[in-house]
Amino acid sequence: MSEENNFYERMGGKPTFAALTEKFYAAVATDPILAPMYPAKDMEGAKERLQLFLEQYWGGPSTYSETRGHPRLRMRHAGFPIDTAAHDAWLTCMHQAVIDLDIAEELREELWTYFQYAAHSMKNQ
Ligand code: HEM
Repeated sequence: MSEENNFYERMGGKPTFAALTEKFYAAVATDPILAPMYPAKDMEGAKERLQLFLEQYWGGPSTYSETRGHPRLRMRHAGFPIDTAAHDAWLTCMHQAVIDLDIAEELREELWTYFQYAAHSMKNQ
């Protein structure tokens, strides 16, 4: 019953997170800083990992942890040089994806605030 009210459900569930990550990765693929960092041969896999992580984080199914283990995102990003330029590029791609979503404005703001905070915490240079 609480499912009705969690962020995941209010966002529209899986299709919304699929649309978000689809748009995000389309932008990443054309970004000069980010594209070389991501696995060109496994962009579908990368998309799925991010989508499942976000679904779980916002109260959806816990498939991410079942398949990938504990998120430990800072550790998983340690191998990528995330400086201010990479941080800004990532947020720019994500912002395009977030503004394109057909969701209530308050949800969009909550999502965007989270991404800004999370991206900041991923900087390692
Ligand atoms: C700040 C700039 C960031 C950069 C440059 C960056 C870059 C990357 C790269 C290159 C990968 C590997 C792609 C793959 O094969 O899965 C990755 C994975 C991932 N990133 Fe980021 N990332 C950033 C921020 C974030 C943020 C803010 C989040 C969460 C809100 C996030 C969530 C993830 C997840 C869930 C994975 C897959 C982890 C796994 O299971 O292996 N990233 N990121």
